[in-house]
Amino acid sequence: MSSRGNFSGRIGFILAAAGSAVGLGNIWRFPYLAGANGGAIFLVVYLACILLLCYPVMVGEIAIGRAANSDAFGSYSKLGTRRWGYLGLFGIMAGVFILSFYNVVAGWAFGYFLHISFGDLLNHQDFGGFFGAYVNDIIDVSSASGLANSNLIFSLIFMAVTAIIVSQGIQKGIEAANKIMMPSLYLILLGIIVYSLSLPNAMSGVRFYLVPDFSELNVGTVVNGLKQAFFSLSLGMGALITYGSYLSKKENIASSAIVISIADTSVAFFSGLMVFPLVHFLAFKLNIDPTQIGTQGPPLIFVVLPQIFSEMGAILGRVVGGAFFLLVCFAALTSTISLLEVPVAYLVDQKKMNRKVVVWGLALLIFILGLPSMMSQGMIASLNKLTFYRGQDFLTFIADMCDISLTVGGALMCIFISRQWGIDKMDAELVNGNEGYMQSRTRSYLHFTIRWVAPVLLGVLSLLIIVEKFFGVENLL
Ligand code: TRP
Repeated sequence: MSSRGNFSGRIGFILAAAGSAVGLGNIWRFPYLAGANGGAIFLVVYLACILLLCYPVMVGEIAIGRAANSDAFGSYSKLGTRRWGYLGLFGIMAGVFILSFYNVVAGWAFGYFLHISFGDLLNHQDFGGFFGAYVNDIIDVSSASGLANSNLIFSLIFMAVTAIIVSQGIQKGIEAANKIMMPSLYLILLGIIVYSLSLPNAMSGVRFYLVPDFSELNVGTVVNGLKQAFFSLSLGMGALITYGSYLSKKENIASSAIVISIADTSVAFFSGLMVFPLVHFLAFKLNIDPTQIGTQGPPLIFVVLPQIFSEMGAILGRVVGGAFFLLVCFAALTSTISLLEVPVAYLVDQKKMNRKVVVWGLALLIFILGLPSMMSQGMIASLNKLTFYRGQDFLTFIADMCDISLTVGGALMCIFISRQWGIDKMDAELVNGNEGYMQSRTRSYLHFTIRWVAPVLLGVLSLLIIVEKFFGVENLL
């Protein structure tokens, strides 16, 4: 085991897995999905998905990794057959593609951090226009806000930092980085929440976010809630198999997974609690209806929030805005680390390659793979409007395909556990570090969900996600 590396203990593992989970998904995607899907009701659906589907899948994934003590491909082939290994490989590929577009968005956030803290981004009048221009031209060095505007460079830096951390190995790299960034992230988040709750009209935002309107509940809400929950918890592609493989047998998987789920869900929840009061404050200030702001989709944090920061005045805006984007960068970095570790572990374990060589080679390759996503935001017209994909851009296309592969991967993983590996073997793994497990209710709950509920529901919902993606949400049932 020691030759592969391992976490120093429970805290290190939980922080790293929570770091993987907490990311752009929580801070960038969750608030706008919640805004577009009825606010509080989305939260209810999201929580239900976690309880019923995500928690069992998370426990299963970690158990597979720890039992096999190998990467995603190695784990499935060791515990099952070589054929099942391809499921692991499929997950590894999904991770590579997720990282390719994820790093682009992370680069935008990093650029915003620099532009807000050290440039004069907040002096702009038209934030939508700025963002459009910013993501459009990827190599612009014209110093649009006192700084070079090149998100090619920003995302290259982001990938390089990711590579530096991953190349240091599990304890000295991944664990150490998470131990610094995760607590900082919580502190910044709580600080901004306290501030945003003190603003005028904040309570109207809180009400929108927390009082559910059940009439907004429909298939679209459920489909969106599920895919968001899977993405947010880093499930379905082997990230947790990989991290689980570095976990000691002494630790309790079932309880660690609860802590990880709560850590992730609380950041998503708090991000909403940070964003909606800000949005309603802005609506109040501009004297417009908040629904015109709250459902803006992906640009929410890049267009609406900077506008709010600029309303705060020169110094405060710089501080709060800078802190916000630093928070986003930390969250993204702890996730890019986990995404890069998945293919790295595969090549190190299976091909016996040198860790540093693999890390830098993959980082470069994945960066290049991300270029079409980066150029799909206006720079290249044909990538901006894919004719075969309802006129959407390439980045959205890749992100959507990854969403699909996560829930499909999760469904197949449950089938793997109950039909190939054997659910009794999973039990045997879960007893390590948890003596009472065999008699516990957790066990019956895991059996029931992994054998029946998860494969069926994940299968059906994956089909619905595919329908939604290719034919539009209005064609759902
Ligand atoms: N969970 C992260 C987020 O919410 C993204 C992420 C990191 C991820 N690793 C993953 C998603 C593995 C799926 C699979 O931003």
